[in-house]
Amino acid sequence: MAITWNEELELGVAEIDEQHRMLVDLINELIDRIEKGEHKQGVLDAIQGMKAYAEFHFAEEEALMRRAGYSSLDEHVSEHQTFVRRAAGFNPGGLLNEREEAEETLDFLNDWFVAHIQDSDRLFVEEVPAGTFEKK
Ligand SMILES: [Fe+2]
Repeated sequence: MAITWNEELELGVAEIDEQHRMLVDLINELIDRIEKGEHKQGVLDAIQGMKAYAEFHFAEEEALMRRAGYSSLDEHVSEHQTFVRRAAGFNPGGLLNEREEAEETLDFLNDWFVAHIQDSDRLFVEEVPAGTFEKK
């Protein structure tokens, strides 16, 4: 099932929110291709597009955190790494043909991202002083 964008995912920081929306779109595209049973190449393209954007976004977010002197940077980076490692293991053939692998991966994509934004990214936005970045 696709991730539905909702107010609880909005952190009120334009730069981060825009990137999160883009990443949710890319994750949803991947979920959609798996659920529709698209051909392998299509699933592989969606995995690679999503992964590349996730890595770009994580690097941007980490740079912002570093500049702001965020106290939980290391924990945050390691959460990002967990996602990248997991995504590196996504296998189009297994996602299309192994029910269990597909379900587990779709659950991971849904749960990780929503929990990460609502808990970890939010902690950062709440900790840094106003004026660190443009608030909406
Ligand atoms: Fe993050």
